[in-house]
Amino acid sequence: MAIKKQLLLYFILAISSVAFADDGYRLWLKYDKIQNSNIAAAYKKQIQQVNIFGTSETIQKATAELNAALKGLLDKTPVVNTITANGSLIIGTASTNTLIASLHLTEQNKITDEGFIIVSKIIQGKNCIVITAKTDIGILYGAFHFIRLLQTQQDISDLNIVSSPKIKYRLLNHWDNLNGTVERGYAGASIWDWHKLPDYIDQRYIDYARANASIGINGTVLTNVNANATILTAPYLDKVAALANVFRPYGIKVFLTARFSAPIEIGGLKTADPLDPQVQQWWNNKVKEIYSLIPDFGGFLVKANSEGQPGPQDYKRNHADGANMFATALAQYKGIVMWRAFVYSQQSNDRFKQAYEEFKPLDGQFKSNVILQVKNGPIDFQPREPFSPLFGAMPQTPLAMEFQLTQEYLGQGTHLVFEAPLFKEALDADTYEKGKNSTIAKIVDGSLDNFSLSVMAGVSNIGNDLNWCSHPFAQANWYALGRLAWDHDLTSEQIATEWLQQTFSCNTAFVSTAKKIMLQSHETLVNYMTPLGLAHIMYNGNHYGPMPWGNTLGRPDWNPVYYHKADSVGIGFDRTATGTNALAEYKEEVRNLWTDSNTCADKYLLWFHHVSWNHKMHTGKTLWNELCNKYYAGVAGIKEIQQQWISLQKYVDPQQFKQVKQLLNIQVKEAVWWRDACLLYFQTFSKMPIPANYEQPDKTLDYYKSLRFPYAPGN
Ligand code: GCU
Repeated sequence: MAIKKQLLLYFILAISSVAFADDGYRLWLKYDKIQNSNIAAAYKKQIQQVNIFGTSETIQKATAELNAALKGLLDKTPVVNTITANGSLIIGTASTNTLIASLHLTEQNKITDEGFIIVSKIIQGKNCIVITAKTDIGILYGAFHFIRLLQTQQDISDLNIVSSPKIKYRLLNHWDNLNGTVERGYAGASIWDWHKLPDYIDQRYIDYARANASIGINGTVLTNVNANATILTAPYLDKVAALANVFRPYGIKVFLTARFSAPIEIGGLKTADPLDPQVQQWWNNKVKEIYSLIPDFGGFLVKANSEGQPGPQDYKRNHADGANMFATALAQYKGIVMWRAFVYSQQSNDRFKQAYEEFKPLDGQFKSNVILQVKNGPIDFQPREPFSPLFGAMPQTPLAMEFQLTQEYLGQGTHLVFEAPLFKEALDADTYEKGKNSTIAKIVDGSLDNFSLSVMAGVSNIGNDLNWCSHPFAQANWYALGRLAWDHDLTSEQIATEWLQQTFSCNTAFVSTAKKIMLQSHETLVNYMTPLGLAHIMYNGNHYGPMPWGNTLGRPDWNPVYYHKADSVGIGFDRTATGTNALAEYKEEVRNLWTDSNTCADKYLLWFHHVSWNHKMHTGKTLWNELCNKYYAGVAGIKEIQQQWISLQKYVDPQQFKQVKQLLNIQVKEAVWWRDACLLYFQTFSKMPIPANYEQPDKTLDYYKSLRFPYAPGN
C-alpha cells in the first residue's frame, strides 16, 4: 500500500513537473500570474477597463497583447469600454479619439513618430492611465512598455513616461541561408521555412514579430550577408512579401542582402559593374519589382569585396560606386543601403587597419540613403576589442553599429555570456571626433554629426530551437540589442534586471544573484579566453575552442599566431609607431591612452603592444604572472557563477534550471580547456612556470593540439 502511495506521488510529481515545465518559447513575454497578491490587487484596481481606440491591424495587435497580458498577469479579462471610469486604461492617438485629443498633452511635441506617452491623468473626475502616441505603431510600443511595467511590478500610480527611440532602424541581421542553415548559428536551423512560404505562415513568424516589437526592433534582414542571388528571384520575393505582411502590423520592415553579382547570376548580364548603365537599370527594375510586392521594403544590406564576395572592386570601382548604385535604385521608395565595412583584403600590413584604409578616403562620397555598417571592433567580434577606428573618422557619413548576438567567438551555444556590457563598452567609448564626449553612441544615433539616418544591428542568435536561442540566457542578448537600440543610455544592470524579471521571476533574492551572474559573465569569459588584449586565438574555421598555435592557413591574418605574436621575448601585437602604427587611425586623445605600454589599460595591452614576459603590469605582477592570474580568475569566475546558479534552484522552473546547470558544467570544462591550452602553449615561449599556488594543468599541450572538431556547428 505504502509503495503504491509512493508511486502515485512520484507519478503526480512527474506529471506536474511536465505540466509546469517552461520550454522558454515565450521568451520575455511570459504573462504568468503575478504571485504578489498586494501588487496584483493594486493593479486590478488601477486597471479596471480598457478603452482602446482605432481599428488598424496594429491597434488590433496591441489589443490582443494587452488582453493576453492582463488575463495572464492578473487573471482578468479586461472590460472594453468607451465610457471613462475609474481605472480606465485609455489608449489611442489624438487623431482617433477626441477624448485623447482634448487632453492636449504637451508631451506630444517631445516624441517622434514611433515614440509613446504613458501618463496617469484625472479625466472627467476619474483616475485613468493614458497611452498615446502619434501613430498606431507608437501605441503598440506604448502597450508593450506598459505590459513591461506590470511584468516587472513597477508602481503605476503616478506615471509620466515619454519615450522615443534614439536610433531610427533597430535591426536584426539574420545570417540565414536559403537551404535552412544559419551561418554562425548555434540555435538550430533557420526559422524561415522558405519551402513552405508563402502559403504556410508558421506561428513562429508572428511570435517573432511580437517579441521584436516588444523591445522596439523595427526591421529584419532575412538573409545571410554571404548572399545568394536566388532570394531576389520572383518566387522568393513572393515568400519575402508573405513575411513582410506578417511583420507589417508590428512595425517591422523586411530587408534583404543583395548579392553584388546578381545581375549576372539571375539577370543574364555579362557584368555587374556599378557604373554600367545596364547594370544600374537592372537594379532599378529589380527594386521596382520588390516595391510592387512589398511597398514598405526597407532596403539592402551588402557585403562586398570581403571574404570572397563579389563587389565593385572587381570592376576597379570603389565602395561608394557600388553603394550609390543601390542607393539610386532605392531612393525614390525611401529604401536604404547598409554597406558593410567588414573588409580585410591582403593589401594592408595589418588587418586592423584595413577598413579604415578603404573607407576613410570615401567619406562624404556616399548618397544620403547609404549608411556604412561597421562592426564594433576593428577585427571581428572578439570577446573584447578596442572600438573600430572608423568611428570618429567619417564625420560626413552615417555609421551603423553592427553587434553580434550569436556567440561565434563567445563560447557559441554553450556559454552563458550577457553581451550588454560588451555593447555598452563600445557605445560609451569616446572617439574624440569633435572633442571630448564624442561617444560612439552619439555617432551611431546620428546626433554628433547631424544625420537622421541611423542604424543599430545585431547579428541574430535565433534559430528554430524550442526556446529560439538555445541557451536560455542567450535570449537576453536579443533583448539587450532591442533595448539599447531604443535607448543606449540604459545600463546593463537595468536591462539584466528587467529581462530576468520578465523571463524568470521578480523575486528580489533571485534577481539580485542572477543579475550578478549576468553582469560578471562577460569579463569572466574574456579572462578565460582572451585576457589582457589577446584576440582571435580560436580554432580556424569553426572558431570553437582555443588554438593559439594555429599557423597553417594560407593567409597570415587567418592564423592565430598572427594575432598574438608570442615569441621568446614576449607577446602581443605592436600597433604603435614602431609596429604597424594602427594607433594612428585614432584621434590623438585616444592614441594617447593606448600608445605607452606602461599606461595603456591592461585590457587592451596586447592589442597594441608586444611586451616582454617580464613587463611590469599595473598590478605589480609580471606580464606572465598576470596572464596566468587572469586565466585562473576566469575559471574561478565561471565556477562561482555555477555555484550561484545552483543556489537559485528554488526560484527557477525545473527544466530551465537544469538546462542552464548542464550548460554551465560544459562552460566550466571549456574554461579549463581554454586556460590550460593557452597557458601551456604560451609557456613554450615564456619558459616560466605557472605559479605553484594554482592548480596545475592535468593534460599536455600535445593533447590539446590533437583535438579536432570537424562537425562543430554554425560553419
Ligand atoms: C566573420 C564570420 C563569417 C562572416 C563574417 C562577416 O568572419 O566568421 O562567418 O561571414 O564575419 O561578418 O561577414
